[in-house]
Amino acid sequence: MDKVRFKLRRWDPERKTYQTSEYEIPVRRGMTVLDGLIWIKENIDRTVSYRASCRMGLCGSCGMVINGKPMLACETQILHLESNNVTVEPLYNYEPIKDLVADFHQFFEKQRTIKPYLIREDVEEQINPTREYIQSPEEWNLYIQFAMCITCGLCYSACPTTATDPKYLGPQALMNLYRFFADSRDQAEHLRLEIADQVDGVWGCHLATGCSEVCPKGVDPALAIQLLRKELLKRSLKLYRGKKISELAPPLPPRNKSPYRAFGEAPEFTIEKAEEKAREFNILKDDRVR
Ligand code: FES
Repeated sequence: MDKVRFKLRRWDPERKTYQTSEYEIPVRRGMTVLDGLIWIKENIDRTVSYRASCRMGLCGSCGMVINGKPMLACETQILHLESNNVTVEPLYNYEPIKDLVADFHQFFEKQRTIKPYLIREDVEEQINPTREYIQSPEEWNLYIQFAMCITCGLCYSACPTTATDPKYLGPQALMNLYRFFADSRDQAEHLRLEIADQVDGVWGCHLATGCSEVCPKGVDPALAIQLLRKELLKRSLKLYRGKKISELAPPLPPRNKSPYRAFGEAPEFTIEKAEEKAREFNILKDDRVR
């Protein structure tokens, strides 16, 4: 296969309607859908709009629906689609802005409601940190999978509840809520459970698991929602025992007593002293080396 047909479903913000544009592009091995869109923009149609940044599956900007499935355009190789036709649409369940660009306003609004940051009682330490919080590898393991989210928003596009209930918090926000709930450094576990315990919170999920299927980082938001439900159930049965909260690490020894300074201050460096040392160790035999 050396040519494929790109069919773009583009939102026209002036006419407030979708229109379809088709382009035939040359394809080589390793070329991604994002490369295809860039090729179209550079060689055929400068008016095509899409969003992308890192081109390596890290920033989460290039989410689109490709041949019916929400995917990252920069991680999807055209030849892997095994079709001569590549259909690209803006993400479902978002307001479109222009062409393939979706509006993430609502997404980040929902994100804000779950307070996506560590909440501690030692507020002063948070504002002016002096030390680290101690966290064991086991405690780290409880949430790290959920900290891998790149906020690409593909999960909302695949979620049938988000499609029908705009107020539903959605897989990404709920997953992130669990990420902070499970973090031993966070002390707002009860507040987080309150936020989750709503009709438009964890109870809105129908467990379709589309969110986990399309997640490009294997974060598994459906699992996080189920874990939150488990905690809520435990709480309603009065079986919730709370979690161990991370303590602050002990203060470091004074600077001059630091183990890194066991050999004392580094001597002042001069060329003469360096030469002297070099001669001492028989490295610099005579002046010719200079
Ligand atoms: Fe950054 Fe695709 S461009 S994830």
